[in-house]
Amino acid sequence: MISLASKEILLRDFRWNDLLQYQTLRSDPKLQRFYSEEDSAPEKAKELLGMFISQSRETPRTKYQLAIVAGSGDLMGSCGIRIESLGHASIGCELGRQWHGTGAARFATNALLEFGFVELGIQRIIAETISENKAAIKLCKSVGMKIESECINDRRFKGRTWTTTILAISRDEWRINHT
Ligand SMILES: CC(C)(COP(=O)(O)OP(=O)(O)OC[C@H]1O[C@@H](n2cnc3c(N)ncnc32)[C@H](O)[C@@H]1OP(=O)(O)O)[C@@H](O)C(=O)NCCC(=O)NCCS
Repeated sequence: MISLASKEILLRDFRWNDLLQYQTLRSDPKLQRFYSEEDSAPEKAKELLGMFISQSRETPRTKYQLAIVAGSGDLMGSCGIRIESLGHASIGCELGRQWHGTGAARFATNALLEFGFVELGIQRIIAETISENKAAIKLCKSVGMKIESECINDRRFKGRTWTTTILAISRDEWRINHT
């Protein structure tokens, strides 16, 4: 059981009784703005929750998709770190609309970077996002990640193509601000 906490926010493994709140949170059109039709489908939340719970039981564990929970017990969103190959991982974060701009995303992202570099011994962490997702890119930059590359028109959904941006940070770069 993973549990990373501050005074007001807890990151923990998902449980099946998070489903209703997770479905509500993911059904918001603003949250879905840069998601494909498949990722926005109502049944997707249940499928993802099942996958996150199964991943939490794998040994060795390589994927940590965690619930972001407020002090009140409300589900604020989800964030995750996935080991992609030896020493390399990717991260991601999604928050319910009422929690945007509260600092919760930055707390969660910083906690994931620390967990990845310190606990998992990762050397390099990346985040991939749709280039128009300014909030996600700003969030990544705010925790020290830098734009590394752009893949022009490499995704297609909602009847058009989308360019994606990859941001990255190495353990050495992260350490400079955490020693
Ligand atoms: C990505 C996400 C977690 C960021 O959370 P957050 O940091 O609380 O987000 P905010 O909406 O407060 O935006 C962060 C910053 O981007 C800015 N921003 C948001 N939308 C913007 C836009 N369209 N253009 C320019 N700037 C924008 C905000 O003003 C804010 O700036 P500030 O930090 O200087 O105040 C949240 O936006 C989210 O859950 N989005 C939906 C899911 C998603 O797309 N996740 C990323 C998948 S890769």
